[in-house]
Amino acid sequence: MEEKRAEWSSHISFILATVGSAVGLGNVWRFPYIMGKYGGAVFLFTYLFLIAFICIVPLCAELALGKMSRKDTVSAFSLINPKLKGFGWLCVITVVLISCFYFVVGGWILQYLWLFITNNIPENFSQYFPVFASGTVVPVILTILFLILCAVFPFRGVNKGIEKANNIMMPLLALMLVLLAIYSLTLPGAKEGLEFMFKPDFSKFDSTMVLTALGQALFTLSIGMGAILTYGSYMKKDTKILKSSYTLIGFDTTVSLLSGIMIFPIVFSFGVEPTAGPTLIFISLPEMFSQLPFAQALGALFFILILFAAVTSGISMLETAIASMIENFNLTRKKATVILSVFIALVSIPSVFSFGIMKDFLIFGKTFFDFLDFITSNILLPLNTAIICLVAGWLVKSIKKEAFGEGIISNIFYFLLKTIVPLIFIIVLVAGLI
Ligand code: TRP
Repeated sequence: MEEKRAEWSSHISFILATVGSAVGLGNVWRFPYIMGKYGGAVFLFTYLFLIAFICIVPLCAELALGKMSRKDTVSAFSLINPKLKGFGWLCVITVVLISCFYFVVGGWILQYLWLFITNNIPENFSQYFPVFASGTVVPVILTILFLILCAVFPFRGVNKGIEKANNIMMPLLALMLVLLAIYSLTLPGAKEGLEFMFKPDFSKFDSTMVLTALGQALFTLSIGMGAILTYGSYMKKDTKILKSSYTLIGFDTTVSLLSGIMIFPIVFSFGVEPTAGPTLIFISLPEMFSQLPFAQALGALFFILILFAAVTSGISMLETAIASMIENFNLTRKKATVILSVFIALVSIPSVFSFGIMKDFLIFGKTFFDFLDFITSNILLPLNTAIICLVAGWLVKSIKKEAFGEGIISNIFYFLLKTIVPLIFIIVLVAGLI
């Protein structure tokens, strides 16, 4: 047991840690391809609106629950009402399930980084990727390697591990991203890329797009699974939640936009469809890198950047579960980390095999990997978020002041928290099931 509960050593460390949790594959990988698929600018504006006025509400609520309880997710909810303990565990299960497919992608990133660093760049990535991903041994080893790379930090503790990792990796990530975005803007497709991102095409506006934007907003901010709550529980007492939340949203959105600015000019310089889908960063982009000047450096930088983004998110996923395991199973931090890692490694194996020997093993018509993505993104995230809003809004008296401060804005957000926002997420849930 840890004697005293850890606390971030500065406000900047707190912000960097939450930004580290939020900024991940969701920004660099998911955001650009979803935006491409849903018509660029129209998606972007919808997304910005939703994130600033809707998703800010559960974000503040989660941070406030962490700050007020100073506990892990499970204990925080059982403090409100012992009957809510099960819900706390549901949040933890959600984050563990997410890590069981997220870490597979982490393994792929390691492989690509290796290819570029060692200058073993394949001729044809559209042939290379499916062969690589369908392997049985290498992708499993890489997934486990990525898992270990994330687990060492929570293993060492909040201050010595997690805080240090974020303090180093996040500023470097920002630097690399800006460099790569500037490079992209010098390419011939820059104008077209920017136009695609920022010029709205209103014919693309429909309900599927709005639902997707909401889902993306939850995923990218790590809301709805206790991750933000856990990081919030280490914040200092005088931290202002609403203000910190807008800072977090600002950074997260900036990274998503810069990722778009980095990716779309390249995409348009080669005349590839911007809607290429999840394979964009593992097939089309690396293929284009290899034809550009400084191919090796470009590819290596790009994959280090994504690696940092993924590792800092992976750390946060693990820490959410670890914090709850320490408190509720009476484990030491080190033991909890090892047990959790072994569990995730085992469940990740069928996820890896979804691209190879288990690609015909379908659950509700989906591979194991897609099934995990589906139940977490479409069902558990909106469900948990709705419950978090309702619990915080109706059962925790002091939430209004803690989460939103005082004054008219606070009244509006508090009203949204209790009524409209949970309703929206229930609608998202029902729509996602149909
Ligand atoms: N926000 C992360 C991203 O954009 C993904 C994520 C979802 C996450 N849930 C999380 C990260 C929980 C840490 C903890 O990639």
